[in-house]
Amino acid sequence: MNILSIETSCDETAVSVVEALGDFPHAKYEILGNALHSQIELHREYGGVFPSLAKREHALTLIPMLEKALTDTKLPQTEHHTLFPEQIEKLHEILYREEGLADNLLSFYERYNTPAIGLIAVTAGPGLEPALWVGVNFAKALSYLWNVPVVGVNHMEGHVLASVFDGRLPVPGEERQTGELPAVVFPALSLLISGGHTELVLMKDWLTYELVGQTRDDAVGEAFDKAARMMGLPYPGGPEISRLARSAREANLPQYAKLPHPMIDSGDADFSFSGLKTAVRYAIADKTLTDDERCALARDFEDAVTEVLLSKTKNALDETGARSLILGGGVTANTHIRKKFEQHLESEYPDVHLYLPDPKLSTDNSVMIALAGHAHTRDAMLPQEASNTIKADGNRSLTEQ
Ligand code: KG4
Ligand code: ZN
Repeated sequence: MNILSIETSCDETAVSVVEALGDFPHAKYEILGNALHSQIELHREYGGVFPSLAKREHALTLIPMLEKALTDTKLPQTEHHTLFPEQIEKLHEILYREEGLADNLLSFYERYNTPAIGLIAVTAGPGLEPALWVGVNFAKALSYLWNVPVVGVNHMEGHVLASVFDGRLPVPGEERQTGELPAVVFPALSLLISGGHTELVLMKDWLTYELVGQTRDDAVGEAFDKAARMMGLPYPGGPEISRLARSAREANLPQYAKLPHPMIDSGDADFSFSGLKTAVRYAIADKTLTDDERCALARDFEDAVTEVLLSKTKNALDETGARSLILGGGVTANTHIRKKFEQHLESEYPDVHLYLPDPKLSTDNSVMIALAGHAHTRDAMLPQEASNTIKADGNRSLTEQ
């Protein structure tokens, strides 16, 4: 079955076509086409994601991404008829809030016959609600146009599955990539760290999630972004702090600030990062940092975050007796955090298998949405039912679904 997947929860507009051979979780997946447009440049001047801009940009970019993903795949197409006026009207109705998208979709329909897609998967939450709606409405419109079932999926579940997935994205000019979900030994603990989430979740089996702990204030990615901003670094701050921290380690720079390790000894699995952010503000105060000081502070910050994440995760591993550890979400792109988890697990928990996403599948992408969609094929709905039922939900939870 060929799955068309759509991701618009934040500032990436992504569309993939993934072929699933077999049933979840034993399928072989082939990434047939993948297109991703990052809006980072657009949001940079605001120092963060600007929701109404993100929404407009998704609406502008979805058709080019769809066309790129489909063109890469060379899927068989069946010729289709010209739309009746009431169908055109219906499409305008589905997409009436998404500026220009209905007209763009109609002109796409004229130049592109119906591709062999068996399922449409779309991120329904969590994320920025206006941004999510664009993807959800677009998925509904395609479902109506092609008469294909559609399923709304949880973005965080996508991150979990991307982490376990043993395939990777093809680089331009490369053969298609295939991958599988290896046989995970349960219970598995997931540490999900992204721009909006920091949570420890216990999985007793595939697709079941129990909350073990979560942040009481900022998410880790958010803390990286805010600390970076205070240090005068551009959005998104995670990669910037990581780059500076690496040069501080290479140069062996002395500690710049003694930063707190919030809640490290709280005895539970909850996190708090706002105190760390405040400590960074005090460490900078009204000084103009030299380049070395900025690098050292970035390193001190990254070290503090990593130590808290490691310590809490180790506690949770002890408490739950988990046999696998799955790290997911955009912050897993951080090489220092990856390395420290690898080192500590190997030496202290040699029997716990660690799953880390391919770095290109760490941050938001639509391949992970195809995996989550495939896992929930049975929840897919035909266009009529989907149009009233599937809703974007910015706060959609993984543990209360
Ligand atoms: O999962 P993701 O792409 O989007 C959300 O679902 O939020 O995560 C984005 C977050 C941002 O806060 C970004 O700064 C952070 O992931 N991030 C990083 C790195 N790359 C991205 N944080 C630390 N180090 C990185 N290398
Ligand atoms: Zn994400």
